[in-house]
Amino acid sequence: MKSDSRIYVAGHTGLVGSAIIRMLQRHDYSGLITSSSREWDLRRQDDVERFFHVNQPEYVFLAAAKVGGIGANNTYPGQFIYDNLMIQSNVIHAAHKSGVKKLVFLGSSCIYPKLCEQPIREEYLMTGSLEPTNDAYAVAKIAGIKMCQAYRTEYGLNAISVMPTNLYGPNDNFDLETSHVLPALIRKLEAGKNHGMSEEDGAAESSVTLWGDGSPRREFLHVDDLAEACLACMRSYDDPDPINVGTGEDIQISELAALIAEVVGFSGEIKWDTSKPNGTPRKVLSVDKIKSLGWSPQIDLRSGIESTYEWYKANACE
Ligand SMILES: NC(=O)c1ccc[n+]([C@@H]2O[C@H](COP(=O)([O-])OP(=O)(O)OC[C@H]3O[C@@H](n4cnc5c(N)ncnc54)[C@H](OP(=O)(O)O)[C@@H]3O)[C@@H](O)[C@H]2O)c1
Repeated sequence: MKSDSRIYVAGHTGLVGSAIIRMLQRHDYSGLITSSSREWDLRRQDDVERFFHVNQPEYVFLAAAKVGGIGANNTYPGQFIYDNLMIQSNVIHAAHKSGVKKLVFLGSSCIYPKLCEQPIREEYLMTGSLEPTNDAYAVAKIAGIKMCQAYRTEYGLNAISVMPTNLYGPNDNFDLETSHVLPALIRKLEAGKNHGMSEEDGAAESSVTLWGDGSPRREFLHVDDLAEACLACMRSYDDPDPINVGTGEDIQISELAALIAEVVGFSGEIKWDTSKPNGTPRKVLSVDKIKSLGWSPQIDLRSGIESTYEWYKANACE
């Protein structure tokens, strides 16, 4: 990519897309192209083909998607499979038709089997059953990987697939109906703290109830680290097989809740609602491949949570 290449970031208002925009600006790329979802609905093939015709992007980061936590995935599997299949199929096809030089497709670690060996290596894809609470979304993402591979084989499109672990950071979704675990914990524990402080004697402890039993282990990567990994892949990864991006380190959800409670200053009781699903028991990615490109995460979990909490208070806190 040259500094004035025409680079389209699809999904630039989201967690990942906005981090990719910040990263490209930090690296002095000037030819950034974005599309407003109000004007260009990427589920509509006509919109996408017109957009590519008008803007002629040379490079594409495909970070537009319908995304959500366990609750949203479980409740709206139809929307998750439809929106994602449509968005990715339209964008990858238009990229091929308009002669894009390279496309980076953002997938997700939920593509891997629910009970696969840990850490999860890229070759474990399609070696077992998916986690049922988000299998519609995962199947759409697997179709995206296959489409990138098929368009590479048949048409020579240089399309690669990047599989990030759980992400967090500025511009995350803090809506409790649809959010992922880390932003949901920030919001709930902050709200619990404020509720406790509003009690008459000022010392009343509130309690906060969280989903599951707190036992699952998960990996979390700051989205600014992911954006740098996407650039490393755009510059020097040209393999049809997906590439994982994560820290390679996991933490128990109950430990994460305790860490976030400390950061936001919540000192009440954390209760667990075991009637709610836990999801996959453990998920940590093997990151050997991405590290071989010279990338490694730079933001540790505590400081990433601290800065995300500051962003939440300044931008999203009600
Ligand atoms: N968040 C995570 O923890 C995580 C983890 C692993 C992988 N990923 C992957 O990273 C990618 C981006 O996720 P994210 O967390 O950044 O999601 P996000 O914050 O929800 O952002 C989604 C973006 O897609 C756009 N979009 C959605 N539907 C659209 C449509 N029909 N037409 C045009 N634009 C549309 C949204 O635009 P509007 O805001 O205008 O609707 C928004 O800019 C996804 O492929 C996801 O699978 C995310």
